[in-house]
Amino acid sequence: MNTNDYSQWFRGSTPYISAHRGKTFVVFLGGDALAHTNVTNIVHDLALLHVLGVQLVLVHGGRPQLDEALPESKIHNHRRITEPHDMPKVTGVYGLLRSQIEGLFSTGLPNTPLHNVDISVVSGNFVTAKPLGVLDGIDHLLTGQLRSLDSPRIANLLSAHNLVLQSPLGFSNSGQAFNLASEELAADISIALQADKLIFFDEIEHLQNTQGQRESTVTPSTLEDYLGDLSQGSAQRFLAMARAVRAGVTKAHQISFATDGGLLQELFTAEGVGTQLVEEQRHPVRAATLTDVGDIVEIIRPLEESGALVRRSRDRLEQEIEHFLVAEVDGVVVGCCAVYPHDLQAELACVAVSDLYRRGNAGVAIGAKLLDAAQAKAAQLGAKTLFALTTQTKEWFIERGFADANVEDLPNTKQSLYNWQRGSKVLLKSLG
Ligand SMILES: CC(C)(COP(=O)(O)OP(=O)(O)OC[C@H]1O[C@@H](n2cnc3c(N)ncnc32)[C@H](O)[C@@H]1OP(=O)(O)O)[C@@H](O)C(=O)NCCC(=O)NCCS
Repeated sequence: MNTNDYSQWFRGSTPYISAHRGKTFVVFLGGDALAHTNVTNIVHDLALLHVLGVQLVLVHGGRPQLDEALPESKIHNHRRITEPHDMPKVTGVYGLLRSQIEGLFSTGLPNTPLHNVDISVVSGNFVTAKPLGVLDGIDHLLTGQLRSLDSPRIANLLSAHNLVLQSPLGFSNSGQAFNLASEELAADISIALQADKLIFFDEIEHLQNTQGQRESTVTPSTLEDYLGDLSQGSAQRFLAMARAVRAGVTKAHQISFATDGGLLQELFTAEGVGTQLVEEQRHPVRAATLTDVGDIVEIIRPLEESGALVRRSRDRLEQEIEHFLVAEVDGVVVGCCAVYPHDLQAELACVAVSDLYRRGNAGVAIGAKLLDAAQAKAAQLGAKTLFALTTQTKEWFIERGFADANVEDLPNTKQSLYNWQRGSKVLLKSLG
């Protein structure tokens, strides 16, 4: 990367730096990732996230290490059946792995720009466990699952700038130790903390479609289509991610543990490098169709009457419908806007949100979502700047990155149509 690329990349990452600050990420590092040479780079990148103010909970696994230590143990449905006499070896393996990770955070960064950074890694008895019991007729013995998590204590430790490290072990109320499936534990912890992200490192780089192209975003309901091509281990990880997203974790990401810098590319660039799982958008903005014309009329008529919007006949709306976007809340059209291309410029017009849904009343800023989608559409059409003409909403545009401009800044075709009597303010935003 030359200096210019580097500056561009750094500038491009700025919105993500502020978006991630103060957020809680639960990160899963399996035994396969811990055994890989890239683990030092992963730890470095996690340390960087910590320095940038991300609250990190790290859950580790140890499957290949346990396979080696307990070659006779049985596996059912990707879960190890833990015999009571296996427990000393299980705790021993996890103890070693935990100290390996603590060591990496303490001594793994000397030859890096983060060598002066002091990272406090804290482990503890945060997980209360219960037995999995008998599944498919098979007693899972000392293989357990999360019963409860001491979330308040974890939250306190995170806000005091500690990184929390959790082994896949938990204790019952009677003090019995249980071996937990680590992927499931990571998902359970992310749900209990209502984390902003659950991040899984895996052997594969991402999901791909039938043409072999990367799927950067998948929803839990379409995940089934991809599972057939995955190893059982990867499929279990994706299922754990889907469960977390369905239970309220905002996003889950899957990244290869072998890719140097994969975590940073996934979190700090728009295109990412792995696959993210998100729940279906409840408030999508989509291209309008002719069947939306009636709803658009309902939304804009009162605003035309008050003079906020220029009058558009129903015929004109029908002719121009391909330029419109609409926002939905639970299937109801509640807002619209139009994007008209003019070579290297595009006009944003007719931005309107139904009165009931303004000012975040629907739990989301509909106007802002329409603006985001309009900017993306304008950029897709090849526009470098977006302009808007408004009589009553100048401040709203200014607060969202537009600047005052003049009629002469408009494309010629638009200048000749400018209505001097209406006297709209001209606002311009660069899409660079
Ligand atoms: C402008 C409009 C689309 C914003 O919709 P929204 O869903 O409420 O938008 P957001 O949630 O992104 O923004 C809401 C914020 O903008 C502010 N805002 C809304 N209208 C505003 C206006 N005319 N001038 C200045 N600020 C305005 C709100 O007070 C609110 O601010 P707050 O949260 O700090 O109190 C909506 O108010 C509307 O339909 N206005 C009438 C139509 C119009 O004037 N369109 C623009 C001409 S093309």
